[in-house]
Amino acid sequence: MTDFSKNKNIQIFDHPLIQHKITRLRDKSTGTAEFRKLINEIAMLMGYEALRDLELEDIEVETPIEKCKSPKIKGKKQAIVPILRAGLGMTDGLLNLLPTAKVGHIGLYRDENTHKPHSYYCKLPNPIDKRIIIVTDPMLATGGSAIDAIKFIKERGGKKIKFMCIIAAPEGLKALSEAHPDVQIYVGHLDRELNEDAYICPGLGDAGDRIFGTK
Ligand code: PRP
Ligand code: URA
Repeated sequence: MTDFSKNKNIQIFDHPLIQHKITRLRDKSTGTAEFRKLINEIAMLMGYEALRDLELEDIEVETPIEKCKSPKIKGKKQAIVPILRAGLGMTDGLLNLLPTAKVGHIGLYRDENTHKPHSYYCKLPNPIDKRIIIVTDPMLATGGSAIDAIKFIKERGGKKIKFMCIIAAPEGLKALSEAHPDVQIYVGHLDRELNEDAYICPGLGDAGDRIFGTK
Protein backbone atom coordinates (compact mmCIF):
# COMPACT_ATOMS: atom_id res chain seq x y z
CA MET A 1 0.00 0.00 0.00
CA THR A 2 1.21 3.55 -0.71
CA ASP A 3 2.81 5.22 2.32
CA PHE A 4 0.74 8.41 2.61
CA SER A 5 2.61 9.63 5.70
CA LYS A 6 5.28 11.28 3.51
CA ASN A 7 2.71 13.47 1.72
CA LYS A 8 2.47 16.81 3.58
CA ASN A 9 -0.91 17.51 1.99
CA ILE A 10 -2.59 14.43 3.45
CA GLN A 11 -3.70 14.28 7.07
CA ILE A 12 -5.17 11.02 8.37
CA PHE A 13 -6.80 11.54 11.76
CA ASP A 14 -6.10 9.32 14.73
CA HIS A 15 -8.06 11.22 17.38
CA PRO A 16 -9.93 8.80 19.69
CA LEU A 17 -13.19 10.80 19.52
CA ILE A 18 -13.18 10.61 15.72
CA GLN A 19 -12.31 6.90 15.70
CA HIS A 20 -15.06 6.12 18.24
CA LYS A 21 -17.69 7.98 16.20
CA ILE A 22 -16.56 6.27 12.97
CA THR A 23 -17.08 2.89 14.65
CA ARG A 24 -20.68 3.92 15.45
CA LEU A 25 -21.12 4.98 11.79
CA ARG A 26 -19.89 1.62 10.49
CA ASP A 27 -22.37 -0.36 12.61
CA LYS A 28 -25.24 -1.40 10.34
CA SER A 29 -27.65 -1.17 13.27
CA THR A 30 -26.96 2.59 13.69
CA GLY A 31 -30.16 4.31 12.56
CA THR A 32 -30.62 7.40 10.39
CA ALA A 33 -30.96 9.98 13.17
CA GLU A 34 -27.78 8.89 14.98
CA PHE A 35 -25.93 8.48 11.67
CA ARG A 36 -26.71 12.09 10.65
CA LYS A 37 -25.68 13.41 14.05
CA LEU A 38 -22.38 11.50 13.96
CA ILE A 39 -21.51 12.69 10.44
CA ASN A 40 -21.96 16.31 11.53
CA GLU A 41 -20.01 15.80 14.77
CA ILE A 42 -17.10 14.19 12.93
CA ALA A 43 -17.10 16.98 10.33
CA MET A 44 -16.88 19.54 13.14
CA LEU A 45 -14.03 17.72 14.88
CA MET A 46 -12.12 17.34 11.62
CA GLY A 47 -12.87 20.95 10.68
CA TYR A 48 -11.34 22.20 13.93
CA GLU A 49 -7.99 20.78 12.81
CA ALA A 50 -8.36 21.40 9.07
CA LEU A 51 -8.94 25.12 9.74
CA ARG A 52 -5.81 25.50 11.84
CA ASP A 53 -4.21 27.62 9.09
CA LEU A 54 -6.98 30.27 8.94
CA GLU A 55 -5.40 33.71 8.88
CA LEU A 56 -5.89 35.99 11.88
CA GLU A 57 -5.73 39.76 12.30
CA ASP A 58 -5.53 41.73 15.53
CA ILE A 59 -8.44 43.98 16.43
CA GLU A 60 -8.91 46.22 19.41
CA VAL A 61 -11.44 45.08 22.05
CA GLU A 62 -12.39 46.59 25.35
CA THR A 63 -12.60 44.04 28.16
CA PRO A 64 -14.24 44.96 31.48
CA ILE A 65 -10.66 45.67 32.65
CA GLU A 66 -8.90 47.47 29.78
CA LYS A 67 -8.46 47.82 26.03
CA CYS A 68 -6.31 45.23 24.27
CA LYS A 69 -5.44 43.85 20.87
CA SER A 70 -6.84 40.39 20.27
CA PRO A 71 -6.97 38.17 17.14
CA LYS A 72 -10.02 37.51 14.97
CA ILE A 73 -10.34 35.46 11.78
CA LYS A 74 -9.37 37.66 8.85
CA GLY A 75 -12.20 38.27 6.38
CA LYS A 76 -15.21 36.06 5.78
CA LYS A 77 -13.70 34.29 2.85
CA GLN A 78 -14.61 30.64 3.16
CA ALA A 79 -16.83 28.38 1.10
CA ILE A 80 -18.11 24.94 2.01
CA VAL A 81 -18.87 22.82 -1.04
CA PRO A 82 -20.63 19.50 -0.34
CA ILE A 83 -20.68 16.87 -3.07
CA LEU A 84 -24.36 15.83 -3.31
CA ARG A 85 -25.83 13.98 -1.77
CA ALA A 86 -23.73 12.61 1.08
CA GLY A 87 -21.43 15.64 1.44
CA LEU A 88 -24.49 17.63 2.57
CA GLY A 89 -24.45 15.62 5.79
CA MET A 90 -21.17 17.31 6.81
CA THR A 91 -22.22 20.90 6.04
CA ASP A 92 -23.90 21.84 9.33
CA GLY A 93 -20.96 20.52 11.34
CA LEU A 94 -18.64 22.89 9.46
CA LEU A 95 -21.11 25.78 9.55
CA ASN A 96 -20.99 25.52 13.36
CA LEU A 97 -17.32 26.53 13.03
CA LEU A 98 -17.73 28.98 10.12
CA PRO A 99 -21.26 30.39 10.39
CA THR A 100 -20.67 33.07 7.73
CA ALA A 101 -19.20 30.72 5.09
CA LYS A 102 -20.91 30.61 1.72
CA VAL A 103 -22.16 27.19 0.61
CA GLY A 104 -21.84 25.85 -2.95
CA HIS A 105 -23.20 22.53 -4.23
CA ILE A 106 -21.86 20.01 -6.71
CA GLY A 107 -24.21 17.22 -7.79
CA LEU A 108 -22.53 13.96 -8.85
CA TYR A 109 -23.64 10.35 -8.80
CA ARG A 110 -21.65 7.22 -9.61
CA ASP A 111 -22.83 4.98 -12.41
CA GLU A 112 -23.54 1.60 -10.78
CA ASN A 113 -21.77 -0.35 -13.53
CA THR A 114 -18.84 1.82 -14.60
CA HIS A 115 -18.39 3.47 -11.14
CA LYS A 116 -17.63 6.70 -13.02
CA PRO A 117 -19.15 9.96 -11.72
CA HIS A 118 -21.91 11.78 -13.64
CA SER A 119 -22.41 15.46 -13.04
CA TYR A 120 -25.92 16.93 -12.69
CA TYR A 121 -25.49 20.22 -10.79
CA CYS A 122 -22.90 22.86 -9.98
CA LYS A 123 -23.61 26.13 -8.21
CA LEU A 124 -20.71 27.87 -6.48
CA PRO A 125 -20.25 31.23 -4.76
CA ASN A 126 -19.10 33.74 -7.36
CA PRO A 127 -16.34 34.92 -7.30
CA ILE A 128 -14.63 31.99 -5.62
CA ASP A 129 -10.96 32.65 -6.40
CA LYS A 130 -10.07 34.30 -3.05
CA ARG A 131 -12.01 31.93 -0.81
CA ILE A 132 -10.72 29.00 1.19
CA ILE A 133 -12.87 26.18 -0.18
CA ILE A 134 -13.69 23.08 1.85
CA VAL A 135 -15.10 20.29 -0.30
CA THR A 136 -16.95 17.64 1.72
CA ASP A 137 -17.90 14.04 1.00
CA PRO A 138 -17.91 11.32 3.66
CA MET A 139 -16.66 8.68 1.19
CA LEU A 140 -13.55 8.69 -1.04
CA ALA A 141 -13.79 5.38 -2.93
CA THR A 142 -12.28 5.37 -6.44
CA GLY A 143 -11.71 9.11 -6.08
CA GLY A 144 -13.58 9.88 -9.32
CA SER A 145 -16.25 12.10 -7.70
CA ALA A 146 -13.78 14.16 -5.65
CA ILE A 147 -11.42 14.55 -8.62
CA ASP A 148 -14.23 15.85 -10.87
CA ALA A 149 -15.71 18.11 -8.18
CA ILE A 150 -12.34 19.77 -7.58
CA LYS A 151 -11.82 20.08 -11.35
CA PHE A 152 -15.14 21.99 -11.64
CA ILE A 153 -14.10 24.29 -8.79
CA LYS A 154 -10.71 25.00 -10.37
CA GLU A 155 -12.37 25.67 -13.76
CA ARG A 156 -14.43 28.38 -11.99
CA GLY A 157 -11.34 29.96 -10.43
CA GLY A 158 -11.04 28.12 -7.08
CA LYS A 159 -7.45 27.96 -5.82
CA LYS A 160 -7.20 27.32 -2.09
CA ILE A 161 -8.97 23.97 -1.83
CA LYS A 162 -9.26 21.49 1.02
CA PHE A 163 -11.03 18.14 0.69
CA MET A 164 -12.50 16.45 3.75
CA CYS A 165 -13.75 12.85 3.85
CA ILE A 166 -14.59 10.56 6.75
CA ILE A 167 -13.54 7.23 5.19
CA ALA A 168 -11.11 6.78 2.30
CA ALA A 169 -9.93 3.77 0.31
CA PRO A 170 -6.20 3.72 -0.51
CA GLU A 171 -7.08 3.62 -4.24
CA GLY A 172 -9.09 6.85 -4.04
CA LEU A 173 -6.61 8.66 -1.82
CA LYS A 174 -3.80 7.87 -4.24
CA ALA A 175 -5.84 8.92 -7.28
CA LEU A 176 -7.01 12.20 -5.69
CA SER A 177 -3.59 13.20 -4.37
CA GLU A 178 -2.04 12.53 -7.80
CA ALA A 179 -4.78 14.34 -9.76
CA HIS A 180 -4.76 17.41 -7.45
CA PRO A 181 -1.40 17.52 -5.64
CA ASP A 182 -2.06 21.11 -4.49
CA VAL A 183 -5.21 20.17 -2.51
CA GLN A 184 -5.01 19.49 1.23
CA ILE A 185 -6.78 16.23 2.01
CA TYR A 186 -8.21 15.34 5.43
CA VAL A 187 -9.23 11.74 6.11
CA GLY A 188 -11.05 10.45 9.20
CA HIS A 189 -9.93 6.85 8.62
CA LEU A 190 -8.04 5.04 5.86
CA ASP A 191 -9.77 1.73 5.15
CA ARG A 192 -8.39 -1.47 3.58
CA GLU A 193 -9.53 -1.57 -0.06
CA LEU A 194 -12.36 -1.36 -2.58
CA ASN A 195 -14.44 -4.40 -3.46
CA GLU A 196 -15.50 -5.35 -7.02
CA ASP A 197 -18.48 -2.96 -6.78
CA ALA A 198 -16.09 -0.13 -5.81
CA TYR A 199 -17.47 -0.02 -2.26
CA ILE A 200 -15.04 0.70 0.55
CA CYS A 201 -14.17 -2.30 2.80
CA PRO A 202 -14.97 -2.42 5.66
CA GLY A 203 -16.54 1.03 5.05
CA LEU A 204 -20.03 1.90 6.18
CA GLY A 205 -22.12 1.05 3.13
CA ASP A 206 -23.81 3.73 1.03
CA ALA A 207 -23.34 7.00 2.89
CA GLY A 208 -26.08 8.88 0.98
CA ASP A 209 -28.66 6.17 1.66
CA ARG A 210 -27.74 6.01 5.34
CA ILE A 211 -27.90 9.81 5.80
CA PHE A 212 -31.17 10.28 3.94
CA GLY A 213 -32.87 6.97 4.81
CA THR A 214 -33.19 5.88 1.15
CA LYS A 215 -32.34 2.59 -0.47
C1 PRP B 1 -20.95 8.30 -3.15
C2 PRP B 1 -20.16 9.16 -2.19
C3 PRP B 1 -19.20 9.86 -3.09
C4 PRP B 1 -18.91 8.82 -4.13
C5 PRP B 1 -17.58 8.21 -3.82
O1 PRP B 1 -21.91 9.05 -3.78
O2 PRP B 1 -20.95 10.04 -1.43
O3 PRP B 1 -19.73 11.04 -3.71
O4 PRP B 1 -19.95 7.82 -4.03
O5 PRP B 1 -17.21 7.32 -4.80
P1 PRP B 1 -15.98 7.56 -5.78
O6 PRP B 1 -14.85 8.03 -4.94
O7 PRP B 1 -15.76 6.20 -6.37
O8 PRP B 1 -16.40 8.57 -6.82
P2 PRP B 1 -22.98 8.41 -4.82
O9 PRP B 1 -22.42 8.47 -6.19
O10 PRP B 1 -23.43 7.09 -4.31
O11 PRP B 1 -24.16 9.45 -4.79
P3 PRP B 1 -25.15 9.87 -3.60
O12 PRP B 1 -24.32 10.62 -2.57
O13 PRP B 1 -26.13 10.74 -4.29
O14 PRP B 1 -25.75 8.62 -3.04
N1 URA C 1 -19.97 5.48 -1.94
C1 URA C 1 -20.45 5.13 -0.72
O1 URA C 1 -21.40 5.75 -0.21
N2 URA C 1 -19.86 4.10 -0.09
C2 URA C 1 -18.83 3.43 -0.60
O2 URA C 1 -18.33 2.49 0.04
C3 URA C 1 -18.35 3.80 -1.87
C4 URA C 1 -18.93 4.84 -2.51
